[in-house]
Amino acid sequence: MQMFQGNNLSSQMEKQIPAGLVEFMQEAGLVAAGLGQKIYLVGGMVRDLLLERSNLDLDLVVAGDAIDLARQLAGITGARMTTHPHFHTANLRWQKQSIDLTSARSETYSRPGALPTVRPGALDIDLFRRDFTINTLAIELIPNRWGEIIDLYGGRDDLEKGLLRVLHEGSFIDDATRIWRGLRYEQRLNFKLEPKTLRLLKRDVPMLETISNDRIRHELELVLAEAFPEKVIIRADKLKVLAELHPDLKGDTWLARKFNQARRQTSPGPPPVGLYFALLAYRLTPDQNEKLISWLRLSKSHSLTLRDTIRLKAGLELLAEPGLAPGRIYSALRDYAAPALTANHLATDSSTVKRHIRLYQNKLRHVRPALTGDDLQKMGISPGPRMKEILHQLLQAKLDGQVTDKHGEVEMVEEKTR
Ligand code: CTP
Repeated sequence: MQMFQGNNLSSQMEKQIPAGLVEFMQEAGLVAAGLGQKIYLVGGMVRDLLLERSNLDLDLVVAGDAIDLARQLAGITGARMTTHPHFHTANLRWQKQSIDLTSARSETYSRPGALPTVRPGALDIDLFRRDFTINTLAIELIPNRWGEIIDLYGGRDDLEKGLLRVLHEGSFIDDATRIWRGLRYEQRLNFKLEPKTLRLLKRDVPMLETISNDRIRHELELVLAEAFPEKVIIRADKLKVLAELHPDLKGDTWLARKFNQARRQTSPGPPPVGLYFALLAYRLTPDQNEKLISWLRLSKSHSLTLRDTIRLKAGLELLAEPGLAPGRIYSALRDYAAPALTANHLATDSSTVKRHIRLYQNKLRHVRPALTGDDLQKMGISPGPRMKEILHQLLQAKLDGQVTDKHGEVEMVEEKTR
């Protein structure tokens, strides 16, 4: 991979990062220098700067007290500040941008998968606790060192070779979510896990059991937010990482095809995460689906989507009948969440079912009778189950073309109430 060669990235920063953000970092450097501290840009943004990929996630590490520095910086720039004294970190909200400032720290893990115990430390220790060498690069921000790159663990070389390398043998044991992170980077950047890292990853797959369900769900949500989540899922299936999540999920060409179709359907925006979830769960039985929902502690809306998806799949035969009246299509589909409809539309092999779902989504679900509840009240029908029933019959008649205008609806109501 051809990358920028020098040891000072200032021109690269000015080229790729919006001017306002560059100025913000320069201000941070000035404040740090004034306090006799040092401050560095670290993590994904440095990695992506060198890869010439866009990334505006500002992660700053302070060799000193991040909260002190953040307070002064907030005073100068007008940013809003939140602090987490226990972790020695602060967050600044500045012009819609979220900026994390952490005090350089060392972390130890009381047991595998636990959240780390945090102590103040130096930059080298802070960078050593990270997941992969490509994420250990830092850039100096104080004025007389502005833009200088710090590469303590060979991150630049690995970036150039397209390799993901952990920093020590116990990395995946300390934090097994790094297994999912590794697969995301591998597929997103088209990198390779270097042989020893791959060996450690395979060895430590069972350590995923030490991770809480909420953290695993978060990792899966991050996977589904990738541009091509299926690539990560297919790789996770091959490496038996997916089976740790749920033994009945599959990452295969079917899933790749369906995710692709989902993207085409929602283009130019990405599909909603709920639709990806629904397609991932599509081939589960109702029991397996329930297990997935409770194991991942899915949100109410995602749980509903998954249940609707599987329930609708079980009743699709009804929609396979050609020439089904629009009113029947409407009644069969109106109770299902939108992503469940789309998932079934994409997943079914029946062109008739596809046509019926599309008709519902594009047209039938928008149809309303011309008469409203108010109109019916004026015609002497009081609100209640009877009015609801009449409105329902009006809608069905309109859907099926039995009435075509308001006049026809009035006649229909008069007939019923005569
Ligand atoms: N990190 C880690 N282990 C984790 C999570 C995070 O070592 N389980 C470190 C990584 O070095 C990462 C940094 O914390 O660079 C910030 O985390 P995050 O924002 O998740 O990573 P990014 O590199 O910004 O990744 P992405 O591009 O996916 O946002």
